Amino acid sequence: MTTGFALPEHFMFGASTAAHQIEGDNTTSDWWTFETMPGSPLEEPSGRACDSYRRWRDDLALIVESGLNTYRFSIEWARIEPIEREFSEVAIAHYRRLVEATVAAGIRPVLTLHHFTNPAWFTARGGWKAPDATRSFLRYVRQIKCVIDAGADAVITINEPNMVAIMSRVISGEATLDNGLGGGLPIPDPVVRDRLIETHRATADLLRDQHPGLPVGWSIANQCVQSVPGGQERAEIYRELVEDVFLRAAAGDDLIGVQSYTRTVFGPEGVVPQPGPRTLTGWEVYPEALGEAVRHTRETLPTTPVLVTENGIATGDDTQRINYTRAALTGLALAMTDGIPVLGYLHWSLLDNYEWGRWTPTFGLATVDRGASFDRTAKPSLIWLGQQSRAGIFDLDLNRTESSAS
Ligand code: BGC
Repeated sequence: MTTGFALPEHFMFGASTAAHQIEGDNTTSDWWTFETMPGSPLEEPSGRACDSYRRWRDDLALIVESGLNTYRFSIEWARIEPIEREFSEVAIAHYRRLVEATVAAGIRPVLTLHHFTNPAWFTARGGWKAPDATRSFLRYVRQIKCVIDAGADAVITINEPNMVAIMSRVISGEATLDNGLGGGLPIPDPVVRDRLIETHRATADLLRDQHPGLPVGWSIANQCVQSVPGGQERAEIYRELVEDVFLRAAAGDDLIGVQSYTRTVFGPEGVVPQPGPRTLTGWEVYPEALGEAVRHTRETLPTTPVLVTENGIATGDDTQRINYTRAALTGLALAMTDGIPVLGYLHWSLLDNYEWGRWTPTFGLATVDRGASFDRTAKPSLIWLGQQSRAGIFDLDLNRTESSAS
């Protein structure tokens, strides 16, 4: 390591996962239904995924052995409440054990209560559009009180509500997904958006009552929206509808989760594709997005501390992962140097996992032998990140610090 940026005390340095993407056999969830229905538009089903519902100890061991200090994972509502109002004691005990074991291993658990998937019954009766959706979610959250009490360090209520409100449009097969701006994601469904905001606020209140002192927030998919001359108006409209409305709804929270991968650039006619290398998801390789996402989040939500809950790259080349991440951490360090309080950095993802319909985009810091043994193997990127966590530094990309200083 050449130059290190000293991290603040208690900095959370870790990796993230999500239940459906790693656990396997999530048969009572709406995504399982979507994956397995005749004519499903998805390329591949999740199947046994990384088998983490059984092999969670192996996942935890990767974190512990690497030197990282934080593990973000999600609780699967569909397992806790597979049938409406019927709660699984077994699933609750499972997640309680996972949190307890994480704490006992000296790792800080960050719990996500909702990461894209719903119980199939919830979606069948209208999903987030059903008038009593918030009530259903709160009922689930009350049931997992003992899981949170087992030692959660922080709670993310809903992962990427902006993407949830977009996906609900896509999955329901709405005729017009064109946002009228000349490219980019569809605009989030306004009914779902408002319901998610209502649910987040009510959940944050409930958690504040049930677990005083526990930091609570939600995590937003940041698009790092930029413009070239003539594209500013489109960029502003898009940023407001796809991102800022969700950021502002976090006012008063203890933290805001920032999730950043790439950028979206608008010109006079719409989105301008950028030249240069792409990741396995087809996104522009643009690690500067993280620093910019953190800065934009701070401007929009000026008093809420930031927790980077996801950042990473889909690549089969682990050296590229290290280079991308080093550049992203450099941008983050510069934002911190400018005074933005950042509670931690959680890389996406711990494992090569199920990328919502496909297995080919590999985001993991570790491989999983899905064909046979399900053995995990740490990649050099995991070892590299863990060393920084142990040393309490970011390993900076000096070229980038110099060029951004000049
Ligand atoms: C999601 C993850 C996903 C990742 C990469 C985020 O939108 O929270 O579940 O795998 O990005 O696409």
